[in-house]
Amino acid sequence: MKRFADNFLWGASSSAFQIEGGWDADGKGMSVADYNSFQRSAVQADSKVASDFYHHYQEDIKLMKEMGLKTYRFSLSWARIIPDGDGEVNQAGIDFYNQVIDALLAADILPFITLYHFDLPFALVEKYNGWEDRRCVEAFQRYAQVCYQAFGDRVKDWQVNNEQNLMIRVNERMNMYDVAPEDAERVRAQMDYHMFVAHALATNDCHKLVENGKIGPAVSSTMTYPSSNRPEDVWAAKMNDNFKTNYGLEMYCFGDYPGYYKEYLTKCGIYPKTQPEDAAILKAAKPDFIALNYYRTLVASYLPVDEQHPYGTKEKDIDFDLYGFFKVERNEHLASSKYGAQIDPMGLRLVLNEYYRQYRLPLIITENGLGTPDVLTEDGKIHDDYRIDYIRDHIAACYDAIQDGVELFGYCPWSVMDLLSSHQGFKKRYGFIFVNREDHDLKDLARIKKDSFYWYQEVIKHNGLE
Ligand code: BG6
Repeated sequence: MKRFADNFLWGASSSAFQIEGGWDADGKGMSVADYNSFQRSAVQADSKVASDFYHHYQEDIKLMKEMGLKTYRFSLSWARIIPDGDGEVNQAGIDFYNQVIDALLAADILPFITLYHFDLPFALVEKYNGWEDRRCVEAFQRYAQVCYQAFGDRVKDWQVNNEQNLMIRVNERMNMYDVAPEDAERVRAQMDYHMFVAHALATNDCHKLVENGKIGPAVSSTMTYPSSNRPEDVWAAKMNDNFKTNYGLEMYCFGDYPGYYKEYLTKCGIYPKTQPEDAAILKAAKPDFIALNYYRTLVASYLPVDEQHPYGTKEKDIDFDLYGFFKVERNEHLASSKYGAQIDPMGLRLVLNEYYRQYRLPLIITENGLGTPDVLTEDGKIHDDYRIDYIRDHIAACYDAIQDGVELFGYCPWSVMDLLSSHQGFKKRYGFIFVNREDHDLKDLARIKKDSFYWYQEVIKHNGLE
């Protein structure tokens, strides 16, 4: 029996644009995530309806209660609350989230809220080119304050943003379509820096405005194995983690970029614009915990400097290669999901140990799950034993990490119910609850409990694995 602490937060996750639908309902503005999903509408589902949580939230929260969730990690849509990003507050948006929060609390489910999950209001892109401009930082600070003031009496657990470290590498999330390739790293570094300042401001404001409020970053965790025991490959694996996640965690936790990252920027001739007050803001911000999303591990080997592009990157989003440092490879020892993510529960134990050792902050897993198509059988069931296996193995890894001494206080698999994949439509499902729709056929949007729903219900009831 692997039994967890009585107050362990068994939960599940989602994000606004992936679950809500109602993309322009009651005054909501378009977000960057909407815009990008509409670009793909012809081939796959978009965010217009998603799982239609906007109209089904009461039924959905009842199901969460039935599953036994102790917490629900979800995000607010900035463009639902402030449609153009920095103008009028939309009372209908505030009302909607008040209803969701109150329904969760009535169901004894702790709301665990992310302020910003990939869905910058599109108007901020049109006005300022988004995070490239300092005004976006001011807009975010105000939005965060609006949320703390509206919900902070009841919501004590916050995350500033979701996966800044991944988001910054995905051009469509930053709406970086027209940037000349030779300018891309500079623009990215400026946006990233602004997001760190915004993160620090929102952290500091949470501590000021929300009584007993707790806040932390949510990172896309990376755990990289060296492709061989050649010292250069071992170094490459460490630098892959450093450049993809640790530089950000150091900024969140210590208020400064680490040396290797500053050196990299300098060598690239990149000097993000700063303001004199930033150093104090960044240093003052102290996260209460680290939230991590975990799906897979990576392998890296040393990539010698390319003569022509010594510090160039390949266009592979977060799996980018960096000349002079690392290139990412496949792990021949691991099986993969249908969509290519390499499945590695041991990697979760490793990364939990690593982050706890480095930052000594409590940890919570805010995403972990298996994205795969599910089959609705003729008797109306979904036998997703593959998902049960995946989650069981990862829960066991959490248990082992806790035995290792890691302070892990919660586990929120992705996702509470089927929702729009971040870039692969509705076929790729993660949920405990099936949503009866397909990419271009909304069907009846009925909610159907998968086998994994009943299995997770037992895990929560017994507070661990039998
Ligand atoms: C995480 C994101 O990186 O991965 C989620 O925070 C996303 O928004 C999840 O849905 C799974 O990725 P995908 O592309 O399969 O939806």
